[in-house]
Amino acid sequence: MVCRDGPAPAGRRLNSASLDAAREYLAHARRVAVLTGAGNSAESGIPTFRDATSGLWAKFDPMQLASEDGFRADPPLVWRWYAWRRGLVANAQPNAGHHALASAQSHFDSFELITQNVDGLHTRAGSAPIELHGSILRTVCLARCGFSQGDPVSLPPGEPPRCPQCNDWLRPDVVWFGEMLDGATLQRAQAAARCDLMLVIGTSGLVYPAAGLPAEALRRGAKVIIVNPQASDLDELATIVLRGTAAVELPRLFAATDAVPSH
Ligand code: OAD
Repeated sequence: MVCRDGPAPAGRRLNSASLDAAREYLAHARRVAVLTGAGNSAESGIPTFRDATSGLWAKFDPMQLASEDGFRADPPLVWRWYAWRRGLVANAQPNAGHHALASAQSHFDSFELITQNVDGLHTRAGSAPIELHGSILRTVCLARCGFSQGDPVSLPPGEPPRCPQCNDWLRPDVVWFGEMLDGATLQRAQAAARCDLMLVIGTSGLVYPAAGLPAEALRRGAKVIIVNPQASDLDELATIVLRGTAAVELPRLFAATDAVPSH
C-alpha cells in the first residue's frame, strides 16, 4: 500500500441537478461497484485519517503506528493504539450510509462493495464487503506462519499476545504502509471494477492501489459518482460529484430507485 501525498485539486463546480442525474445513472445501471473509505464511517464516530484537524494522521505518525518497522520498534505501543481503535469500533454503530448500501445490494444484477475500511461496519450493516485493507477485528501472526484469529473480544489491551503456533508476535490483520495487499482480494476488487457504475464514497483517493480502481472502472466505460463533502484527488474522474456526507447522500441517492428505504 502506498500513499500519494499532495493537495487535492479544487472541487468541480456542482449544481443541484447532480442528485437527479446520479439517480438516473443508478436507475439504468446493472453492475454497480462501490468503493468506500474512512469518510463512510465518519458519521458513526470513527475518525478519518487525513481530515485536517480530526484525522488520525493529524495526531499520530503513520510510520510509527501503521508499518511493520514501527510495530517491531515498539509492539506494545502499536498494539495499544489498535486496541483503542477496536474500542471505538465496538462502541460505534453503522450509519445511514452503511445501511443504504446494504439495502441496495439485492436490487442490481451485480453489486460489489469494496472497502478500504478495517472497522467491520459494512458487515454489521448487512453487506459482504471486499476488505482491501483487512480488518482490525482479526489478528494474524507477524511471521505469517498461518495463524489467524477472528475474536477481538478476547484480545488483551496492553501487550500483543504471542502466536500459539510459532511464538512470534500477533498483529492486527490490516495492510500497513509498504506492504502488499492480499493478491486474491485485490483481484476480486479489480474484477468488481468492471462495472457500469462506480460509486466512490468518502475517500481522499491518495492510497494505492485502492485509489486506482475508479480510473480502472472509467477506462472500461463505467460512470463514476463521488460522494464526499470535500474535494478529493479523484474528482477529475467523476461524472458526478455529490458534495455531501455519506449518511445524508446515500439514502437520498438510493431512495429514488424505489428499491431502498430511507433510514
Ligand atoms: P482519508 O482520511 O484519507 O479520507 C477520508 C475522506 O472522507 C476525505 O476525502 C473526506 O473529505 C471524506 N469525508 C469526511 N467525512 C465524510 C462523510 N461524513 N461522508 C463522506 N465523506 C467524508 O481516508 P481513506 O481515503 O479511507 O489505510 O484513506 C485510505 C487509507 O489510508 C485507509 O484505508 C488507511 C489510511 O492509511 C489503513 O489503515 C490500512
